[in-house]
Amino acid sequence: MHDPLGLYAPENRTDPYPVLARLRREAPLYFAGNEGAGSYIVTRYADVSAGFRDPRLSASRAEAMARRLPPEAREWVAPVTGNLAHWILLRDPPDHTRLRSLLGQAFTPRLIEAWRPRIQQILDELLAAIEPGEVELVHALAGPLPVLVIGDMLGLPPGDRHRLKACSDAIAAFFGAAAMTQALLADARAAILELEDYFRRALAERRAAPRNDLLSALVAAEEQGSVLSEQELLSTCTAILFGGHETTTNLIANTVSTLLRHPDQLERLRAEPGLVASAIEEVLRFECPVSRMGRIARVDFEWHGQQLKAGDRLFLSFAAANRDEAQFPDPDRFDIARADNRHLGFSTGPHYCIGAALGRLEARLTLEALLKKFPRWELLETPVWLDNLTVRGPAALRVALG
Ligand code: HEM
Repeated sequence: MHDPLGLYAPENRTDPYPVLARLRREAPLYFAGNEGAGSYIVTRYADVSAGFRDPRLSASRAEAMARRLPPEAREWVAPVTGNLAHWILLRDPPDHTRLRSLLGQAFTPRLIEAWRPRIQQILDELLAAIEPGEVELVHALAGPLPVLVIGDMLGLPPGDRHRLKACSDAIAAFFGAAAMTQALLADARAAILELEDYFRRALAERRAAPRNDLLSALVAAEEQGSVLSEQELLSTCTAILFGGHETTTNLIANTVSTLLRHPDQLERLRAEPGLVASAIEEVLRFECPVSRMGRIARVDFEWHGQQLKAGDRLFLSFAAANRDEAQFPDPDRFDIARADNRHLGFSTGPHYCIGAALGRLEARLTLEALLKKFPRWELLETPVWLDNLTVRGPAALRVALG
């Protein structure tokens, strides 16, 4: 592995920020990886921000993911890449524009606000089951809340959430794997096949008898003028299920764990509960749940004195950009009242997170409810981070609440 500055060294997984700071200073376009399978990492705020708007970079990378696999694995894994290839996240215009205007209608701030009472109800039910004492918060709250909420919006029965979450976890592990293994591929393949089968049946039920849910709205859009192909419909369901909960789980878990590691800020928040929204924004900057996103060079071009070739892979690092001293004064300080916090936690440009309003609402309601119900929080053990280069959050969060 060519990685002279140690970006991928396992010891940097827990605290990646010092090595990212070094990259920002010394190697703003850093190449790491094996021959033929490497990628560039972009770390400065100005570059990351510009990169997500740069038409020379393409979001369409499912085929590139497949090309990195051994030839004999490519056909076998085609169900995965075939599904991902139609995710809005991995499309360029004109497909991206079409999907975005369709999905945008379901995620306007006004419509999301209308979900507030239902989200609060789901949250209250989960919180009612948490007694004062020791609890593992990812399992008890941060994991189930977002999957129940997005499942409800799609119109899926709450009892299916364990399978849906297991499938989504397998896709997340594939997406951000530090090293691809046969087991990760096999799990992702099984998850995609299960989800496609599941959504095929759920969509057929809506075709026969429409309901008041997002799946029915997607079916209606398809029927009203073939706006979506069958594969796009299945891929869109998968993408919304995935996008709608892995990230929010980690936003909630990172909020609690970061506040626990900064007791002065937790104390301030208790004294000034009006800072809840601002505290969530600071978590999106300081410990962003999505660390990086990939792009592919469409054409040859020079950047930071290096020659990029069409087809080269780049990762634009939110985690690095959000700690750039050129953008944020005292960037390694966690400050829940930070002013002018233009973090990139939800990305920027045409792929800016479509679920930002929903994710924010879930996280704010959860934080408010936890502060209200439990005046005392204590961290019982240092959390172990998920072994994932894209999704950042604790695998488990053992706390005592009183
Ligand atoms: C709360 C934490 C969340 C975080 C940190 C987050 C982060 C992100 C980021 C970084 C992107 C942009 C990727 C890029 O530029 O390539 C994105 C896109 C997206 N997110 Fe989120 N997200 C969150 C919640 C949600 C929720 C609740 C949904 C609900 C459906 C959602 C659905 C999506 C979708 C569909 C896209 C693709 C948009 C496009 O390609 O145009 N996200 N998200």
